[in-house]
Amino acid sequence: MTAPSDVQGAQPSGSRTTKLAVVGAGAVGSTLAFAALTRGSARTIALHDVNRAKVEAEVLDLQHGLMFTSQAQVVGSDDVGVCAGADVVVVTAGAKQKPGQTRIDLAEATIGLMHQILPGLVEVAPDATYLMVTNPVDVVTYAALKISGLPRQQLFGSGTVLDSSRLRVVLADRCGVAVGNVHAYIAGEHGDSEIALWSSATIGGVPLLDWVPLGGHPPIDAAVRSEVHHEVVDSAYRIIAGKGATNYAVGLAGARIVEAVLNDERRIMPVSSLLDDYHGISDVCLSVPSLVDRRGVTDSVRVPMSDDELTGLRASAAGVRAVQKRFGF
Ligand code: LAC
Repeated sequence: MTAPSDVQGAQPSGSRTTKLAVVGAGAVGSTLAFAALTRGSARTIALHDVNRAKVEAEVLDLQHGLMFTSQAQVVGSDDVGVCAGADVVVVTAGAKQKPGQTRIDLAEATIGLMHQILPGLVEVAPDATYLMVTNPVDVVTYAALKISGLPRQQLFGSGTVLDSSRLRVVLADRCGVAVGNVHAYIAGEHGDSEIALWSSATIGGVPLLDWVPLGGHPPIDAAVRSEVHHEVVDSAYRIIAGKGATNYAVGLAGARIVEAVLNDERRIMPVSSLLDDYHGISDVCLSVPSLVDRRGVTDSVRVPMSDDELTGLRASAAGVRAVQKRFGF
């Protein structure tokens, strides 16, 4: 009986060592590497960035913490060869979202960067599972699939795993329960058009829409649901305005997705993948609850949706697809 993989510091299952490569040693990449190290997500963590001084400094700083973590090796280089043989490659390199900018505003610079870095990565790690974190992650995931030529299951994006975590934290606080008792998804674009799947959300097994408030907590009525959705969509803008970037929660979300791959968990997560007739939506990368295992994203879960949720998901798909087409994909 192996410990639940959510247990902090859970060791990857199986005896063979596992290698995680993180591309980009900026705030998100270095935090994701730190999260993976402290959670014991992989035995070898390789950090790659073209900025040699930066990547060497981040690697040293991580290595100096090895006395306090489970057995692991941290390496890094400005040479993409450090990613060779990785089981999972996480791409975080990209333009930084400035205060007031949307994630879509980063698309042109980031897609150009993907053309530069993906061929070299796939050459040294052709069998890795690729997790795109760089924003705008849905458009970047679609572009990366086309540029890399990898099968659709082998490359996917972190999508709304982070947004769903934000939703669960806010709902848990509003309801006065533990985060682990909230099961709710944000779906669609990892961005302004994302939607909350209220009709399938549950609190402690009780459908959210039937939730009876616990003592002293407000009902989760339509007005509160609208407030909560806005709070989730607005999160990144609020954090970026205050500290210049988001990194902790996206780093943890990325490390958790990496574990679902390395531990072959068949974990259902709202990651961004190339949809094929999902409620009639195709040829766009978008987040819906999907099965994540050793091979990447191997299936999607047809979550029942209200008419409003379906309308919102289709609008989100149309918005992301329009950006894809604007950049020739
Ligand atoms: C955020 C960034 C990762 O939502 O898009 O924090």
